[in-house]
Amino acid sequence: MSIKPLEIIILAAGKGSRMKSSVPKVLHKIAGTSLLGHVLNAANQLSPQKIHVVVGHGKELVINEFGDIPINWVEQNEQLGTGHAVLQVLPLVSEDSNVLMLTADVPLIRSDTLNLLNDAMSAFPLALLTAQIADPSGLGRIIRDASDGVCGIIEHKDASASQRNINEINSGIMCARGNDLKRWLDKVGNDNTQKEYYLTDIVEIAYAEGNPITACQPTNAGEVDGINTRSQLAIVERHYQYKRAEELMAEGVTLMDPARIDIRGEVEIGPDTTIDINTVIVGPSKIGSNVNIGPNCMISASTIGNGTTIHANSVIESSSIHEQVNIGPFARLRPGTELLHKVKIGNFVETKNARLEAGAKVNHLSYVGDATVGQDTNIGAGVITCNYDGADKHKTDIGRDVFVGSNSQLVAPVVIGDGATIGAGSTITSDVEAQALAISRARQRKIQGWQRPEKGK
Ligand code: UD1
Ligand code: CA
Repeated sequence: MSIKPLEIIILAAGKGSRMKSSVPKVLHKIAGTSLLGHVLNAANQLSPQKIHVVVGHGKELVINEFGDIPINWVEQNEQLGTGHAVLQVLPLVSEDSNVLMLTADVPLIRSDTLNLLNDAMSAFPLALLTAQIADPSGLGRIIRDASDGVCGIIEHKDASASQRNINEINSGIMCARGNDLKRWLDKVGNDNTQKEYYLTDIVEIAYAEGNPITACQPTNAGEVDGINTRSQLAIVERHYQYKRAEELMAEGVTLMDPARIDIRGEVEIGPDTTIDINTVIVGPSKIGSNVNIGPNCMISASTIGNGTTIHANSVIESSSIHEQVNIGPFARLRPGTELLHKVKIGNFVETKNARLEAGAKVNHLSYVGDATVGQDTNIGAGVITCNYDGADKHKTDIGRDVFVGSNSQLVAPVVIGDGATIGAGSTITSDVEAQALAISRARQRKIQGWQRPEKGK
């Protein structure tokens, strides 16, 4: 049998009333990516001919979010049900296509599972994705005939008490040929508790025509968890995070507690890296092997080299950290930070747009912004690169083997030559030559036998 072209329809027009949100439901996020974003990712992996997304509630917001991706946006002005939603797209769908219907509120669906349905179309005119779940409450139930063939779907609200005992549920995902879908949907009415045109009614109609209907199952029932409420959003987030944690551990990463790590987006972590509790890693990030990450760290859009240690409560954003670097505790590395081999950044140090060459040290309470720091240079406690004059940012260029004494300010633009020494407490406003000593603090005075003032005198 020839392989039919594949078109995908994603239903995303509903308001999501049960979320009680001003944001359309499909823009709520799992692991930092919107629900619709997750479904689009899975859909794209099937390389379909077209992706149609049905939008209604908050459509401008939804369309805006995905501006760059080639999507055929279809408006459903009134939300009269899932069947009505699919009908809005059908005039644009080729009769000959396999049409895979997804709902934007089932975000963990995997492309492998979707392929099962598309593949089943070579033998069946209608394929459903169903799952056996312990608590099917609220979901559509799969009705089977005497010989155990699928013959219908009954929505929870329309189901009898005995039908509600059925544990096989409709995931909301199904696949059918364009021409069949048109014929079946034309027959769907809205004579049900919700007065909606249910997509699910096509099953009974197809069965009545004598069509064999197949039901495929995902490897893991959690894949078809739908999101209607904030509580379900939280459950699916945990489910997703648990899965990511399992994957990381399978790749050789030690997690002190797999229930207390959050991974959002594309994140790669090398073997023998250890991550303590409550760390959040946001992609795209690449963390090497033998990295040690302490508790409560936040790492986003960064690369971390092999053997680096990040101590507790450090925040690293859009930075490039090389090998065997030592960071924190309580360090804040802002965008554009580049730390080369064996750099040391200590507690309460903030960096931004700064490149520190191998072996440089900034151990305590400093701000290094718009700066370069040469190899093996030591920046004392409380040093500030004064990069901002109130209007513009300027650069501080510090050479190699420089010693910057504690509590000094380097007023940019300024260049400190290799091997120079800055005396503690200096305010440096002009360039310092290589190997020179610069001190700008007032000389110490001594007054012998000084009487301290006494209270009340
Ligand atoms: C739907 C299924 C149910 C299934 C469940 C799985 C129907 C009638 N019911 O129920 O059998 O068990 O999903 O999660 O299909 N939407 C539109 N336009 C509309 C109505 C809905 O685009 O007019 C979209 C929604 O935005 C949502 C999806 O369709 O993404 C499903 O709608 P929802 O109201 O959440 O259906 P459920 O009650 O969850
Ligand atoms: Ca739903």
